Amino acid sequence: MNKIVVENFSLTYSDGTESLQNINLKIKANAITALIGPAGGGKSTFLRAMNRLNDLADVATLAGHLFIDGQDVLDPKVNIIQLRRTAGIVFARPMPLPLTIYENIVFGLRVAGERRKEVLDETVEQALRQAQLWDEVYDRLNDSAFAISGGQQQRLCIARVLALHPEIILLDEPTSALDPISTAKIETSLLELKENYTIVIAPHSIQQAARIADDVAFFLQGEVVEFAPGEKIFTRPEDKRTQDYVQGRFG
Ligand SMILES: Nc1ncnc2c1ncn2[C@@H]1O[C@H](COP(=O)(O)OP(=O)(O)OP(=O)(O)O)[C@@H](O)[C@H]1O
Ligand SMILES: [Mg+2]
Repeated sequence: MNKIVVENFSLTYSDGTESLQNINLKIKANAITALIGPAGGGKSTFLRAMNRLNDLADVATLAGHLFIDGQDVLDPKVNIIQLRRTAGIVFARPMPLPLTIYENIVFGLRVAGERRKEVLDETVEQALRQAQLWDEVYDRLNDSAFAISGGQQQRLCIARVLALHPEIILLDEPTSALDPISTAKIETSLLELKENYTIVIAPHSIQQAARIADDVAFFLQGEVVEFAPGEKIFTRPEDKRTQDYVQGRFG
């Protein structure tokens, strides 16, 4: 099933940078889709657009459609708060709130009015287990989120997104600042989460895409040069530019 359908999507920033030109993608539910390509290709711009975060940036023109379950995210009538619950986003640098581990996870639920302690407790445990962090922090949930390592903080940020029961998880180089152990735990977590979520990630390396991706889109200077199952992109890509990139000839 296609969870996200991108049709002729283009985005130009106010300084004239044509960051995305006529992007077309069909992103499957219960799969990991990786966006790869050299710097400046438009991967982050695309992920932010899915979450309507570009509303805050200097965007001059937007065209085309970004459908989630048939509804266009770009429709001005879209409820942005609801959209950001449906599609949670995780960035490269872990950004916990200056609160305890527990309060970081339940923050969104409290804002939404949830007060039942048993619901909050259960959500914390479940989200931390899904993010592969529970075993490391279950006995210090009331410590500051800043008292744990960067890798643990990033898993906490993933748990915070999961606590809101999203359908889509967007991740922009979530492991680029992390140690190999935390990176491996996040990859394990994503492979488990895809059973129940739609995952779109700009991985921090081609190797990471090869380890976890079902489908891969190769972004080059604002265009999707090739979109195919990872196995095809990595072993027999159709476009010479894809081949050169995955073989490390530029990057
Ligand atoms: N806020 C902005 N204002 C103007 N131009 C921007 C803005 N953000 C990104 N760009 C430009 O849009 C293009 C795409 O950038 P983007 O950050 O989406 O690429 P990326 O594929 O995520 O790159 P990287 O691999 O370095 O993270 C680049 O030319 C970049 O300079
Ligand atoms: Mg980026």
